[in-house]
Amino acid sequence: MTKPERGDALVLFGATGDLAKKKLFPALYHLTERDRLGVPVVGVASSEWDDAKLADYARESVEAAAPDAKASVVDNLVAGLSMVSGDYREHATYAALAKRLKKLGVKRPVYYLAIPPALFDDVVDGLAAVGLNDNARVVVEKPFGRDLASAKELNASLHRAFAEPAIFRIDHYLGKESVENLLIFRFANSFLEPIWNRNFVSEVQITMAESFGVEGRGAFYDSVGTVRDVMQNHLLQVACMLAMEPPVAADADALRDEKVKVLKAMPAIDPKHVVRGQYEGYLDEPGVAKDSKVETYAAMRVEIDSWRWAGVPFHIRAGKALATTALEAVVKLKSPPRLLFGTDDHRPHPNYIRFRLGKNDGVDISVQAKEPGEKLVSHPVELEVNFEHVFGVRQEAYERLLGDALLGRAGRFAREDSVDNAWRIVQPVLDHPGPVHRYARGTWGPEEADAVLGRHHWHQPT
Ligand code: BG6
Repeated sequence: MTKPERGDALVLFGATGDLAKKKLFPALYHLTERDRLGVPVVGVASSEWDDAKLADYARESVEAAAPDAKASVVDNLVAGLSMVSGDYREHATYAALAKRLKKLGVKRPVYYLAIPPALFDDVVDGLAAVGLNDNARVVVEKPFGRDLASAKELNASLHRAFAEPAIFRIDHYLGKESVENLLIFRFANSFLEPIWNRNFVSEVQITMAESFGVEGRGAFYDSVGTVRDVMQNHLLQVACMLAMEPPVAADADALRDEKVKVLKAMPAIDPKHVVRGQYEGYLDEPGVAKDSKVETYAAMRVEIDSWRWAGVPFHIRAGKALATTALEAVVKLKSPPRLLFGTDDHRPHPNYIRFRLGKNDGVDISVQAKEPGEKLVSHPVELEVNFEHVFGVRQEAYERLLGDALLGRAGRFAREDSVDNAWRIVQPVLDHPGPVHRYARGTWGPEEADAVLGRHHWHQPT
């Protein structure tokens, strides 16, 4: 397979927006610091900004995200920035962009669409009309559609101008070092593989908890809800990393083939196995409809009908305004066949492996050890590793993803078949959402969510 050519410019549609400010400019700063950018960055937006205004915006954004940013690196970054202002529906905008790219000698641009999906059509057609889609790649932000039908439409629009290998769909969880570690931990060690299946695993739980509410994103959030915002994409991708078979090679397609096989083996979720919640006070958030039934919490049971996982429930939950902020996956093993070192009122907990995927990421393996004293009884202890202690601070997801997009490395991006399958899986919940239960802020969500678990119980993050 030939190595993709490196992009020679990054064109940021939506350069004056929130994502650019919070994530993209800080990521570009870190790429510049590591000498991995080295291409001009052209901002495009409808705001009438000039190069200087974009440079100020980029500076402010880097300084807010990295207060210890080096002035020389920031200078270097802003020296490569320029701005093209114009309406996304106007031909003149693309003509001006073409002129700018020509002046910069650009042959292989990478377009980043940090804009609402409703504008994708205009931009894709606008680029194609002036031939700017040739030899180019396009990076699209989530949400990728709002259901299976709209995702298919979006794919069709993109495919009008870009072939699938040129389309890079962002799911920033795929850029997290901690999430990628699931692959290494599973496939670069040999001790897990023999037990990583329905014979030894009784349950898998994935929890994404956020202690904050919708924080100024009420209008956006109220149009999506938890299932669309994080479950269809981030958390199903984490489930795939936990459940996939070893890929036949480490290249982008081999990896993505295995993940999509997991999704294909997941039947669409039965709405009976879903509980939705809404935190008290959500209806008073700016931008939220007063009678909104949109969920800020969801818990669901997902099955994987495969030789390896049939019968093992995957319980996935996510919510805002919960007791803490944490992202974890717990793989719980079956109990030993006989109770030797316990009593009726002291049953040893089954072993589990906890992957901490958020801040302070690491792995904990819970095992039984002898409790000190005369009795021969066991006590659970955790073998823990904290990756930040071992490796220090690592790269942010957006830095890795932007760097990959420039290089044309597609492995950390969602392929069309995986996005479509993920929508297929959650579609019944979107069609038949069922009631939404209130929960108090700072709790673990509605009590009704326990019903999803059957005989299991929630593992609260540490
Ligand atoms: C985004 C969601 O995709 O992911 C947000 O839209 C959520 O609602 C965020 O807060 C969480 O990302 P992270 O990296 O902080 O876990």
